[in-house]
Amino acid sequence: MVRILVTGSNGFLGHRLVASLRLRTDVELIATSLGPDRRSDTEGYLYVPMDVTSEQAVQEVCSRYRPDAIIHTAAITQVDQAEQQPAYCRCLNVGAVAHLVGACARYGIHLLQLSTDFVFDGLSGPYAESDPVSPISVYGWSKAAAEKLLSDSEISWAVVRTILVYGQEVPGGRSNIVQWATKVLQSGNPVQVVNDQYRMPTFVEYLAQACIEIALRKERGIFHISGEEEVSIFELVGHVAQHLGLSMEMVQSVNSSDLAGAELRPPRTGFILGKAKSRIHYEPVSLETGLTKVLGPAIQ
Ligand SMILES: NC(=O)c1ccc[n+]([C@@H]2O[C@H](COP(=O)([O-])OP(=O)(O)OC[C@H]3O[C@@H](n4cnc5c(N)ncnc54)[C@H](OP(=O)(O)O)[C@@H]3O)[C@@H](O)[C@H]2O)c1
Repeated sequence: MVRILVTGSNGFLGHRLVASLRLRTDVELIATSLGPDRRSDTEGYLYVPMDVTSEQAVQEVCSRYRPDAIIHTAAITQVDQAEQQPAYCRCLNVGAVAHLVGACARYGIHLLQLSTDFVFDGLSGPYAESDPVSPISVYGWSKAAAEKLLSDSEISWAVVRTILVYGQEVPGGRSNIVQWATKVLQSGNPVQVVNDQYRMPTFVEYLAQACIEIALRKERGIFHISGEEEVSIFELVGHVAQHLGLSMEMVQSVNSSDLAGAELRPPRTGFILGKAKSRIHYEPVSLETGLTKVLGPAIQ
């Protein structure tokens, strides 16, 4: 039996991790987040509130439950919020990781840290794990700083970097690109979407599975986990429209320079997935299959 603690269990990825882990007979799951547990099906795991920015709370929970591995998802994840609240971003995205590294060192826990394609500047994607980081935003900087805390430590650690995650919406949680595109297209309201930011969108269920695999095996080092198809955000919205049989008439294709905050977003990221494929047999789902899982069968 392996005991796994998930942080940010109310979040988009955290919710999916709990959904999978609570059903496993070989895992004891401790789910933690900032607020009260927002799941309706609360069987198969223990929920403990834990503010990861409190060193004392992190020490107490880790000392009490002694997990074998922690999957750390809790973070400020919004690029604009991070720019507006850099001190809070540093506290949550970097300070909390320092608390977790301290507790993991003390109790011999394996730490899996979630990170992002935004650690790169997007000028030479797709990227391999060994490429040097070059963040261009407070968010990207904070995630790169958190990665360095792990790599400079003596603990057993893994970093999972991922890209533009999509999937079913979580109750009380934030939206994601596919759900956002669906709502915009269905509303018929005009919207501007960038045509020059390229990503490899990642299906949340496959990301969660990869994190679980890495945590259970106590794999070490950096892993790139994403989809394999490179699309611009405009093209992605087009895929959703085509899947749902909706019109793109009201969707205006624009350059990043036409919108505020372009300088904070890397133009072309994308990952080389060879390491994840060979080490944990990760096989990304195609975008079309991912959309079918989220939105149902394509409307012909
Ligand atoms: N989503 C993406 O497209 C994407 C892309 C690249 C990388 N990532 C990375 O993947 C990870 C998960 O992202 P996500 O989209 O699942 O994030 P999310 O939906 O924004 O969830 C983050 C969760 O963190 C929790 N949290 C906030 N402050 C906390 C605190 N002080 N202590 C404990 N928990 C706290 C919140 O819990 P409450 O709800 O309880 O307040 C929230 O549910 C993040 O590290 C992110 O950087 C995400």
